[in-house]
Amino acid sequence: MSELSHRPVGIIDSGFGGLSVARAVRAYLPEETLYYAADCAHAPWGEKSDAAIQARVMVLVEHLLALDIKALVIACNTATVTLRPYLKSVLSIPVVGIEPALEESFRRSKTQRIGVMGTTKTVTSPAYLAQKARFMPPAHIVDCACPGLMECVERGDFTGADTRHLLETLTRPLVDAQVDTVALACTHYPFLKETIAEVLPAGTTLVDPAPEIARRLEVRLTEANRLNTKRTLTDRFFTTGVNEHRQALLKTLWREDAQFEGI
Ligand code: DGL
Repeated sequence: MSELSHRPVGIIDSGFGGLSVARAVRAYLPEETLYYAADCAHAPWGEKSDAAIQARVMVLVEHLLALDIKALVIACNTATVTLRPYLKSVLSIPVVGIEPALEESFRRSKTQRIGVMGTTKTVTSPAYLAQKARFMPPAHIVDCACPGLMECVERGDFTGADTRHLLETLTRPLVDAQVDTVALACTHYPFLKETIAEVLPAGTTLVDPAPEIARRLEVRLTEANRLNTKRTLTDRFFTTGVNEHRQALLKTLWREDAQFEGI
């Protein structure tokens, strides 16, 4: 404990996806206060240039820094592969990024045939390609860019016909390649787990990296002497483009009493 321990942990994503990480952090570190910042008005980030992603990420980060966060979780694979070294160099607080869980996927796969679903930006990034090279061979890793998929989550369509149809089309290369394990390398996709499981062959293992990120956050907070032992503040949620739909979706994905404040 230090005088900084009671301060909130900042969590950022382009939209609602980072809430899958916030849920894992809340479950694993219940004494931490969470300040969540999304960029719903400018999402998706997955098809933007590096410079555009950096500009949007910095809007959220500066908003949270002004509220005295003690650590930052980049709950977005796209932002992590694009900006992690930059954010670590410019921020003086612990920064935790997200990984596509290749190691866990490799461990859990029986056939070493692994699929990775992510944004176009993530699966074509040098950072991801370098990680992937560490496992190939012996693993056979099939990338699956999923343009349009995060928008299903942003619309609140988790199990509808449109989402299912899009998923059937997007995941065909994974089915053809007979992967037995799929890493969910975009934080929006865990909210589509049920439908993803339906369109993939029965028994396919889906790997969500969020629990591992929560454990990593605990390590970083402990190292920095910033782990909280008693939560005294209330969680807060921020986004660009507050509207009724987004307020309702936040209640569905977090809690009935949660409410967005504007950025
Ligand atoms: N949730 C994001 C990720 O993990 C980004 C989705 C997007 O904005 O395209 O990559």
